[in-house]
Amino acid sequence: MVYINIVKKLICVLLLVVVVLTICLWKETRKGYYIPFKTQSKSIHIARTLGTWDILASGVLSNKAVNEKSQVSGALMGKLDKAKDYISPTAPGNNAVAKLKKSVGNMNVWNENSSSKNLIPRLQKVRHNYLSMNKYNVTYAGPKNTARPIPKKLLCQLRDRVNVTMIHGSDGPFSTSEWQKYLPRKNFSQEVGHLGQCAVVSSAGSLKNSRLGPEIDAHDAVLRFNGAPTRGFQQDVGEKTTVRLVNSQLITVEEQKFLTETLYNTGILIVWDPAPYHAEIHEWYRRPDYNFFANYKEYRTRHREQPFYILNPKMQWELWDILQENSLEDIQPNPPSSGMLGIMIMMTLCDKVNVYEFLPSKRQTDICHYYQRFQDRACTLGAYHPLLFEKNLVKHINQGTDENIYTYGKELHQIH
Ligand SMILES: *[C@@H]1O[C@H](CO)[C@@H](O)[C@H](O)[C@H]1NC(C)=O
Ligand SMILES: *[C@@H]1O[C@H](CO)[C@@H](O)[C@H](O)[C@H]1NC(C)=O
Ligand SMILES: *[C@@H]1O[C@H](CO)[C@@H](O)[C@H](O)[C@H]1NC(C)=O
Ligand SMILES: *[C@@H]1O[C@H](CO)[C@@H](O)[C@H](O)[C@H]1NC(C)=O
Repeated sequence: MVYINIVKKLICVLLLVVVVLTICLWKETRKGYYIPFKTQSKSIHIARTLGTWDILASGVLSNKAVNEKSQVSGALMGKLDKAKDYISPTAPGNNAVAKLKKSVGNMNVWNENSSSKNLIPRLQKVRHNYLSMNKYNVTYAGPKNTARPIPKKLLCQLRDRVNVTMIHGSDGPFSTSEWQKYLPRKNFSQEVGHLGQCAVVSSAGSLKNSRLGPEIDAHDAVLRFNGAPTRGFQQDVGEKTTVRLVNSQLITVEEQKFLTETLYNTGILIVWDPAPYHAEIHEWYRRPDYNFFANYKEYRTRHREQPFYILNPKMQWELWDILQENSLEDIQPNPPSSGMLGIMIMMTLCDKVNVYEFLPSKRQTDICHYYQRFQDRACTLGAYHPLLFEKNLVKHINQGTDENIYTYGKELHQIH
């Protein structure tokens, strides 16, 4: 009898422990979403995991996010400058996005006159914070508040004023014999050759269930961003990768596994890193945003045959100037998103560029990336990139139809 009682008690205690553990674990899992905003170092990593495509998702935010995040926004404001991240407002929330969209018939497409006033208050604050921080010492003196030129003129500006060049052996600090060993021998335009039809594939969650894979793969070349995978998602995003544009944080931060993850071993790689607004290459080289040079060299040593370029950082600000010039308000003085840079790169290389889900389609969703389950939360937080203004510009120069945006999230750009 005594023996049985002891066993019963033991079982009860064990059950209790299991229940407590389960509750703790569940709480931890939920907390996971919030960690990014609590500690700076984690915020970088997690934000970047979320931002592995950095920013192409569409939209702006959801009301849900406002409620959930308003408590942490204060802390966030202080952290953002240190977090050197590229997180941006993405998270397509339905109500807030609706304001930024224009109804055409019964199709809602991005309104090219969207203003920051349409953002939720918290994001407006983040934008103001970045404006007063002016981390990259932007001193823009060009025109503002002017009427946007017709699309054709704007395309000419993009073509003539944005120099899409890669770092090569004659660029200042890279003209050492050591660097000659690492930089690709062929220049970028030689390497890719002339391209006809190209696709730029965002990492937006709205690509899920799009079934765009075969259409995307039918292009001569496909550009993807950061850690966006194709395996397991072929139906929606295709499997061809001709160029992959990655940010410097991705290749620097160990957790991202850039050196070992095989998805990076396909196609031509390009890395970009923000420089101060006026910086010459020397100054940027001494103080890059992320010191990615060591990992660049290491990757080059391990994968001699794979072309891997470093984007000339001047390009970001040449493009930024045009974004500012064509916006009615001050845009964030931070570099354009990877998405915008990728569109620009392909526009200079290809006759025709189809961009997928930069402007939100009817599939807009709270999920940030098609390959992750995260909902808007972390994605909506940044307002680091002037993404709203990028979308306005992209909508303005779109040569495709509103219906294609609505149905496929697809825009067409031809610069030549
Ligand atoms: C945007 O503003 C311009 C200039 O005011 C106007 O001509 C155009 O119709 C507007 N576009 C939309 C979609 O509201
Ligand atoms: C911006 O300018 C300030 C003051 O001139 C300087 O201290 C700072 O290092 C500059 N920042 C960058 C990123 O160049
Ligand atoms: C683009 O780069 C080339 C070569 O570096 C230079 O000659 C040219 O002036 C640049 N164009 C612009 C618009 O900066
Ligand atoms: C790339 O190399 C080719 C052949 O050497 C040359 O004709 C071309 O001008 C180069 N392009 C750039 C952008 O440097």
